[in-house]
Amino acid sequence: MTTRYASEFGAFEISPIPGQPQLAHCHGFFIVPAGRGKGLGTQQKLEQMRLLDESLYDYATCTVDAENAAQKRVLTKTGWTFLVAFDNRRTGKKTELWGWEIGGEDNG
Ligand SMILES: CC(C)(COP(=O)(O)OP(=O)(O)OC[C@H]1O[C@@H](n2cnc3c(N)ncnc32)[C@H](O)[C@@H]1OP(=O)(O)O)[C@@H](O)C(=O)NCCC(=O)NCCS
Repeated sequence: MTTRYASEFGAFEISPIPGQPQLAHCHGFFIVPAGRGKGLGTQQKLEQMRLLDESLYDYATCTVDAENAAQKRVLTKTGWTFLVAFDNRRTGKKTELWGWEIGGEDNG
């Protein structure tokens, strides 16, 4: 079941992976255009990570367009790891898969 979280600043969704419910895929992440560049994306990502931890998932993934420098900066700043890049037939561009080990050694 997908869960949507939203505020006046933005939103995101979290879905357990079918067949592997300890793994969550995060998607639909955005900050409203007027709010961007003020740290809200980073803040919202940290809130997503708190919810993943609270929900006792063990690992989380998300995808990002390889050219989306702002989101890749947010992922790097919040401790996510680049996993792999692939050619996306839908977008005609590179898409990257990133992951975060919840409760991992570096996660406090
Ligand atoms: C991606 C997004 C969520 C970022 O939100 P935000 O509130 O602007 O993010 P923050 O302000 O917390 O941080 C953005 C970081 O990216 C950096 N950044 C922004 N544009 C950049 C660019 N073109 N190149 C390199 N870095 C960039 C900022 O400097 C900042 O890093 P810093 O804190 O080290 O200075 C927002 O731009 C958005 O909603 N975009 C449209 C939807 C989207 O792309 N969602 C992600 C789908 S995977």
